[in-house]
Amino acid sequence: MTDTTPETHFDRRVFSGIQPSGGLTLGNYLGAIKHFVDMQDEGGYPTIYCMVDMHAITAKFIDPDTLRRNTRELCAGFIASGIDPEKSILFNQSQVAEHAQLAWIFNCVARMGWMGRMTQWKDKAGKNAENSSLGLFAYPALMAADILVYHATHVPVGDDQKQHLELTRDIAAKFNHDYGQEFFPITEPVIRGAATRVMNLQDGTKKMSKSDPSDRTRINMTDDADTIAKKIRRAKTDPDPLPETVDGLESRPEARNLVNIYAALADTTPAAVVAEHAGAQFGAFKVALSDLAVDRLAPIATEMARLMDDQAEIDRILARGAERAREIAAPILKKTYEIVGMVGA
Ligand code: TYM
Repeated sequence: MTDTTPETHFDRRVFSGIQPSGGLTLGNYLGAIKHFVDMQDEGGYPTIYCMVDMHAITAKFIDPDTLRRNTRELCAGFIASGIDPEKSILFNQSQVAEHAQLAWIFNCVARMGWMGRMTQWKDKAGKNAENSSLGLFAYPALMAADILVYHATHVPVGDDQKQHLELTRDIAAKFNHDYGQEFFPITEPVIRGAATRVMNLQDGTKKMSKSDPSDRTRINMTDDADTIAKKIRRAKTDPDPLPETVDGLESRPEARNLVNIYAALADTTPAAVVAEHAGAQFGAFKVALSDLAVDRLAPIATEMARLMDDQAEIDRILARGAERAREIAAPILKKTYEIVGMVGA
């Protein structure tokens, strides 16, 4: 039985989250979920995985039924990919009020300048900052609260979340400094594997994203075998064959992306993939990649659809996960309030 009191906060504890703002993509799977499963299966430390529904409403209005559906589908995606709700704590953010409560404290620790420098804020708000929600600006403080309310020490994410994790470290360090206590851990990002940044299938210089208007740019975790094969076949490439070494992928972003995806799906390295397929034309390589992708992904889509047939069971899993999450978060929030000087904590 893991001791969940705040005193254990520098033990290894893993937390990560995904927004239910749309369907799951291959980027989410290879950059994040696959590593969540590996860390869970490694065992020996708690793994806590969250559907961050409060983050999902920061960017644009989401119809409530869509948000509910996305959250349940994301839960099905986690489980179908190998997250075991008995081994890991699996829940949606809004069911554990401690996230929002700690986020308020962090809103008072984080500086406007820090938030304004966040690339994702600049990308998403763009020239329309005046019209963006306050929640979008404060987003990274809630993210820091998600992590630190569990005293999580390790956070597996894709490359695009690196800056938010640096901010999480800055918030923890400033809190610890201001209040003169080493209370929050300085979290380590875990960004590993061949696909830390899966790129758009039609433009290798852009990230694969669930929000791109064109479905051809991504593989969704709900795509069936034919759709996966078709999207890979139509993915943009250049006319040259696969090079002899990974150096030959330099300035060939689309080619490099397909090699990285292959390596991540096969649990190997880009160097090994290039060595095996050196000299092959992309037509042939795409056939091999699409066979591999269908083999790994189609069973996940099938299992997701099966799980989605029993929503009551999904809701029960999320409620149980939230209860377990609260057992860890509540004492850490209470201690935070005490440190801050809130009477009655
Ligand atoms: P989100 O929902 O955009 O993405 C979830 C995870 O998937 C990774 N990812 C990718 N990895 C590789 N290639 C891609 N194309 C790709 N697209 C997405 C992301 O890096 C992420 O790991 N802010 C977070 C959610 C969050 C969170 C947290 C994460 C909220 N609180 C606390 C960790 C800890 C986000 O928007 O992820």
